[in-house]
Amino acid sequence: MNASRQMRLGLSMRYLGYHIAAWRHPDFQPTSIVEFETYRDIARKAEAAKLDMIFFADGVAVRGSDNPAGALSRDMKNAELEPLTLLSAIAACTSRVGLVATASTTYNEPFHVARKYASLDHISKGRAGWNVVTSWSDQEAQNFNRVANLEKDERYARAAEFVQVVKGLWSSWDADAFTHDKATGQFYDPEKLHILNHKGKFFSVRGPLNSCRTPQGEPIIVQAGASSQGRDIAAEHAHVVYTNSLDVGEARTFYADLKDRAASFGRRSGEPLIMPGVTLYVGATKAEAQAKFDELQRLIDPVAGLALLYTFCGDLSAYDLDKPLPPDFFTNGISIGGNLLAKARRENLTIRQLYEDVAAGYTGRYLIGTAEDIVDDLQHWFETGAADGFNICPPILPQGMDDLATFIVPELRRRGLFRSDYEATTLRGNLGLASA
Ligand SMILES: Cc1cc2nc3c(=O)[nH]c(=O)nc-3n(C[C@H](O)[C@H](O)[C@H](O)COP(=O)(O)O)c2cc1C
Repeated sequence: MNASRQMRLGLSMRYLGYHIAAWRHPDFQPTSIVEFETYRDIARKAEAAKLDMIFFADGVAVRGSDNPAGALSRDMKNAELEPLTLLSAIAACTSRVGLVATASTTYNEPFHVARKYASLDHISKGRAGWNVVTSWSDQEAQNFNRVANLEKDERYARAAEFVQVVKGLWSSWDADAFTHDKATGQFYDPEKLHILNHKGKFFSVRGPLNSCRTPQGEPIIVQAGASSQGRDIAAEHAHVVYTNSLDVGEARTFYADLKDRAASFGRRSGEPLIMPGVTLYVGATKAEAQAKFDELQRLIDPVAGLALLYTFCGDLSAYDLDKPLPPDFFTNGISIGGNLLAKARRENLTIRQLYEDVAAGYTGRYLIGTAEDIVDDLQHWFETGAADGFNICPPILPQGMDDLATFIVPELRRRGLFRSDYEATTLRGNLGLASA
């Protein structure tokens, strides 16, 4: 293992917390979910801790359905800020931390995405990243002139072409295309302009992008989506892959598979970086960490818990919450649901235990313990081919960021696993990626 290999860390900030009952915590300010200052202050703390990036998952709808009845009105996930707008404002208040926002390839046009992220890259002086998702809900489809989401193969075929077009647009101009020669009157050198003229199955895009080459050359591409089609897009294009692996064996298989696929696309060794999500409940003692966890678990409303499962598994409200999952339990075919089903079966969980488990990490992995306990686990993943770093999904913010800075980052540094200062001014540079 390379002694100088450093762990990558992102902070996932959506909804100010990944615990489903975060908003009911006595210290949580529900109005802060749409207040810029809250996000700005957390982003500054992330930068002070030298994290690689802050990260915003996103969806283009209120995705919950009112199943079981009353669920929607108990859900904090129905009011948020649009992440690119938010990151543009945060860009002005930070100088080093990477700024990654999610945008859907199903409910956008490539030109929009190319332009917005190029702009964010300029505004932030080279810190922009696009998390590519294909979207999974019918509620999103219904905000974009459709009844149901596109079928999976179609979604991914569109996504593959979409990413190609965006990258093509980002390459519209050579870095030195804009000569700004006041004496001759030449603003740019026409030899250094490349018109895309893309004509494909889904898109017809002439280009060029009305923005010059960005500080990173191209913004960073992050990919989230674990199916074979998603992995191929990641292997070809992504710099970072955000996953939700639940156990280390599965994570290693995923990691090896993705690096193999990337090699077959001729990618530079080590790319893309694999960053599983993980939710941390950390305290000065095990008891303190457990108390933080228990306090949030006690706040879970059963209707909201069942709603969390509904998205992936359908309506389970007719069943006894304290019995194991019914045999006809199904998932809607997306990878997150499949992981849940496997975990429930493996650990023989009751419905209540399953939703409590999901609520604690919002479908992802969670850890409870002291800094030493947690860093032992993260280090094990990092050093045994399961991860290049982690996208930390705190249960509640800003407390989760404070815990990261107080407990986890110092312990990682003590073990030589995490930087004490940024190496570069761009996200690409800090992630140690090749220039574009
Ligand atoms: C770790 C992870 C994070 C994701 N984040 C988002 C997101 O922020 N917004 C979104 O619309 N979809 C998100 N997705 C969903 C994927 O884009 C995709 O639509 C879904 O996972 C189904 O495809 P899959 O079977 O390839 O995973 C995420 C998926 C994973 C695995």
